[in-house]
Amino acid sequence: MTQMQTRAALASVDPEIAALIHQEEERQRGTLEMIASENFTSRAVIEAVGSVLTNKYAEGYPGKRYYGGCEFVDEIEELARTRAKQLFGAQHANVQPHAGSQANMAAYYATIEIGDTVMGLDLAQGGHLTHGRDVNFSGRWYTFVHYGVDRETEQIDFDQVGALARQHRPKLIVAGATAYPRTLDFPRFREIADEVGALLMVDMAHIAGLVAGGVHPSPVPYAQIVTSTTHKTLRGPRSAFILCTEEYAQAVDRAVFPGLQGGPMVQLIAGKAVAFQEALQPEFHAYARQIVANARALAEELQRGGLRLVAGGTDTHLMLVDVGVKGISGKKAERWLEAAGITVNKNTIPYDQRSPAVGSGIRVGTPALTTRGMREDEMRRIGRLIVRVLDGGGDEAVIGAVRGAVTELARSFPLPGVTDSA
Ligand SMILES: Cc1ncc(COP(=O)(O)O)c(C=O)c1O
Repeated sequence: MTQMQTRAALASVDPEIAALIHQEEERQRGTLEMIASENFTSRAVIEAVGSVLTNKYAEGYPGKRYYGGCEFVDEIEELARTRAKQLFGAQHANVQPHAGSQANMAAYYATIEIGDTVMGLDLAQGGHLTHGRDVNFSGRWYTFVHYGVDRETEQIDFDQVGALARQHRPKLIVAGATAYPRTLDFPRFREIADEVGALLMVDMAHIAGLVAGGVHPSPVPYAQIVTSTTHKTLRGPRSAFILCTEEYAQAVDRAVFPGLQGGPMVQLIAGKAVAFQEALQPEFHAYARQIVANARALAEELQRGGLRLVAGGTDTHLMLVDVGVKGISGKKAERWLEAAGITVNKNTIPYDQRSPAVGSGIRVGTPALTTRGMREDEMRRIGRLIVRVLDGGGDEAVIGAVRGAVTELARSFPLPGVTDSA
């Protein structure tokens, strides 16, 4: 049965939306998805998310709901919680946060008061909006102090983290990043947090799948609270969860509901349960290893092509590529690559001279293409295509030739999660 047939009801009720979804499916099928925070979730997850569970209200927690008819959704949420705890070796899990930003909001709500001092990685150096950016609730409601990366190594400057912590005595230190290619040293963060009497919160949104797959150290033994999305390297539905020690379980649960959210999205909780189950399988370890091996192969090829990698390379699923060394901006690189069918996002690099809207870098990740079945050979090929586009100076003939190669490559790797890959 094709995706168009399975969406027969949608096509008859709302042909406009049906056609746009079909177009998006074709876009995903015909291009190379290299946005580091995206992935292709499984058909099983898509079925759980697209199920009748979307009809159900279930405010509260299993066994303590404010609505009747929750016997099955109680079991679903219990399975999701148990699997999350098992997957990450955590004492407590809350699987209700709708998305990563809400998980972070709940973690703050559970542990600190408005106005309290918090430390987090600067957005301009790899942090996330919810780690204290002024335009975000986090920057408006809490007193954030930002640490950054060393100018030389472009890796987290722990001397600075320690000095700032001793100076500002934060209640909470946030570790975790949205554009940082190296391993995060959780024991070091915990040592500093303990020294100044702060709690440690790790936002592992980007690396959760690598942690689950055993290719990045786990933050769980070191952080009192760990937040994460489920849709990046973890390859689940677009959502999030929180892990914490028993000591913070009640505060976290109360922060999520009734503190910040109403009814949970039960269809997403089911999707998360399925994704945790998938990540508990031995194959997921192989997947995580391949993500990192692919990133290394791609990084080497890009360096061979004259590009500079921030922090000298990658230990993870992503790399920050300094395209400024070729005299072009991240914005231009993103646009040319998109025209060639390679989807990435522009990004500032540490100490960037260009504005965030333009940037000198692009962020490139391998989780989605690894799910598609690509390996080191394809990564090297794609690396050469990227360099060709960037060296082509926007020349349409070059972009057109690369687009042809991209289409051919994409077509030979079926789109996961979709039954009809014709
Ligand atoms: C480190 C980090 N935390 C939180 C988030 C927010 O997740 P969401 O987009 O689901 O709100 C992101 C998303 O990019 C992220 O990279």
